[in-house]
Amino acid sequence: MTEAKKLFIKTYGCQMNVYDSERMAESLGTKGYVATDTVEDADMVLINTCHIREKASEKLFSDLGRLRPAKEANPNLKVAVAGCVAQAEGAEILRRMPLVDLVVGPQSYHRLPEMEAKVQRGERAIDTEFPPEDKFDHLPERKAMRGPSAFLTVQEGCDKFCAFCVVPYTRGSEVSRPPERLLAEARNLAARGVRELTLLGQNVNAYRADGYGLARLIRELSQVEGILRLRYMTSHPNDMEDDLIAAHGDCPQLMPYLHLPVQSGSDRILKAMNRKHTAADYLRVLDRIRAARPDILLTSDFIVGFPGETDADFEATLALIRKVNYGMAYSFKYSARPGTPAAEKPDVNSDVADARLQELQALLGAQQRAGQQAMVGQEVDVLYEKAGRQPGQMVGKSQHLHAVHVDDPSGKVGELARVRITDAKSNSLGGRRVG
Ligand code: 5AD
Ligand code: SF4
Repeated sequence: MTEAKKLFIKTYGCQMNVYDSERMAESLGTKGYVATDTVEDADMVLINTCHIREKASEKLFSDLGRLRPAKEANPNLKVAVAGCVAQAEGAEILRRMPLVDLVVGPQSYHRLPEMEAKVQRGERAIDTEFPPEDKFDHLPERKAMRGPSAFLTVQEGCDKFCAFCVVPYTRGSEVSRPPERLLAEARNLAARGVRELTLLGQNVNAYRADGYGLARLIRELSQVEGILRLRYMTSHPNDMEDDLIAAHGDCPQLMPYLHLPVQSGSDRILKAMNRKHTAADYLRVLDRIRAARPDILLTSDFIVGFPGETDADFEATLALIRKVNYGMAYSFKYSARPGTPAAEKPDVNSDVADARLQELQALLGAQQRAGQQAMVGQEVDVLYEKAGRQPGQMVGKSQHLHAVHVDDPSGKVGELARVRITDAKSNSLGGRRVG
């Protein structure tokens, strides 16, 4: 038998990239690759990239530069670049970086085995097409499972064209996977011990296939034996339809957690961003979701320093945050992305944007800490994901996606435990098992 080849993967960006990296590893598994976590003994290094902000794509070139000594030490080492930077700048990567052997976009990685064979023949391979065939039909079945919580990509691409965002260009237009395939993948994952599924899509609540919307898909997935919890991300406020809001109220497997990005609280900026909703529209949607599920934990994304953002616009964002009271949120300084409409407009002064980001993050951080503190004394359900660092301790997630450390010497991975929260640290909760 030939010795297994070793694959080192580095993943940047969103959960969908995490999912894609797993599927690429499985695909290369058919060519004899097994995972390694050191570059030094790898036969192939694959960098799965993100293009969403400038810093994300700069990282690729510095990573590639740092691979030079490894490639010199082992001339047989193959270097592959995948993901959205590969999609957007594939030819440029090959031109600038002679050490790169393979470039593959997010829609064509089912072709990795043939591309790998080409690379082994000493050629370079690039595929950044949006092929007519569905990659998911050509990928191997899911085998290895690391834990009880898994991602499931149900939808890809985005037709919204927010003025700042590269996703509609790098991931293409919206495509939803057929429900029967998703149900089959979910059954397969459940049989391998998965208890929680997070349904992924760039615009997941626009899911639409064979008469299904996201709500119907969630309801059917909730009937799959072994699946105890469902979540989904990322959503657009304009696609929060009645049946999906209703599902938050009456589908017990759907967890009380919703990531619903608003980006800004200023109507002027929302319009310039091409978000196609106002702050009041967004707040109305949240009111309806909270009416259906009062304990829901809300999270969002924010961009500060979007071109034209004034102090008053920024104040409107702070006011919206105060009104909503988020359990958690991601916030970013605007970065101009080539090819997007907003990139044509003059930037806000960088120091002003930095100061706004700090102020916004201080407010969001305070809300997050208060939300965690308010859990102390309450009982939550924790899905154990792994053993903790302390002996006799398990670590998992509550229904609100809080990380919880639980003293439970007989706890097992994959178990759902009733836990009383006893303390709140900065990024996690502590508790003891009560049932
Ligand atoms: N600059 C800053 N943040 C951005 N995002 C998307 N594009 C940009 C950009 N050009 C943020 C948005 C989005 C999240 C995934 O990344 O907040 O919701
Ligand atoms: Fe980008 Fe999300 Fe807007 Fe689509 S909805 S363009 S993915 S920010």
